[in-house]
Amino acid sequence: MPFAHDHLLGIEHLSPGDITTLLDLAGQYADMGRGGAKHSDALAGLTQINMFFETSTRTQASFELAGKRLGADVMSMSMQASSIKKGETLIDTTMTLNAMHPDLLVVRHPHSGAVDLLAQKVNCAVINAGDGRHEHPTQALLDALTIRRAKGRLHRLNIAICGDIAHSRVARSNIILLGKMENRIRLIGPPTLMPAGIGEFGVEVYENMQEGLKGVDVVMMLRLQRERMDGGFIPSEREYYHRYGLDAEKLAYAAPDAIVMHPGPMNRGVEIDGELADDINRSVIREQVEMGVAVRMAAMDLLARRLRERQSPPGVMV
Ligand code: NCD
Repeated sequence: MPFAHDHLLGIEHLSPGDITTLLDLAGQYADMGRGGAKHSDALAGLTQINMFFETSTRTQASFELAGKRLGADVMSMSMQASSIKKGETLIDTTMTLNAMHPDLLVVRHPHSGAVDLLAQKVNCAVINAGDGRHEHPTQALLDALTIRRAKGRLHRLNIAICGDIAHSRVARSNIILLGKMENRIRLIGPPTLMPAGIGEFGVEVYENMQEGLKGVDVVMMLRLQRERMDGGFIPSEREYYHRYGLDAEKLAYAAPDAIVMHPGPMNRGVEIDGELADDINRSVIREQVEMGVAVRMAAMDLLARRLRERQSPPGVMV
């Protein structure tokens, strides 16, 4: 199925068919990476600029690596050190970079909706690498690919998403994606960390971890997003770990072959036990990082095909 999108701004714009197309191609890139043939020329001659207005380790590194493996000219801007500090607006900075004719802009920003706004101003493909608490589409896609490879399917699974749902763009994109693919989603966390109106998302909500985890196939843990909290949302980290931190004892309530996921960066001893996170029989956290590169390669490849189509409409000789 052709991928008919000019940007990748959120899972909400993708159909189940789009998601499958993306994951199929990402699966091929993942196999290629494991087989040692890491490079292709899908983005040869194209310029990719990464603009990160919020800190990032794995997302920024994997976008950079993905672009390089596909042959793009890649530039990563650290926006903390840029003219934004001198008072230039987001739009001005973007238009300055746009004047250098990038083909792909990868943007992370602390404000929900900022990346959508940017996409309306530039004439290249824009990928949302996380905007506020809104969406983080490539994270949900890499989670989906990890689940599909571990479980052999991406439908009719019982999936628990646990912790700070209210402030998490990862949770939001995952709820939308996993819902579109017809899975049963349970959200587990204290009421203070549940977004208002969550009932409308077609999910089950649990306050008790043991109850919520019963029989699930996938346990997805989330970091407490302190940078997005203004005030006390939890009594203390110790109390939080006691009630919501995932350890072997709580995991025993899930299905015997349940997998453990975390998008990173993870706080050991706050939302997850360190030993469990490293247990290769249960945790797929490392695979998530590996699939991150493959998913970003696939997303940029599909957007680049669209770009090339637009640059050379049918019937025009190039
Ligand atoms: C997530 C993010 O930035 O939203 N991290 C990531 O992209 N791997 C989750 C988080 O910061 O907790």
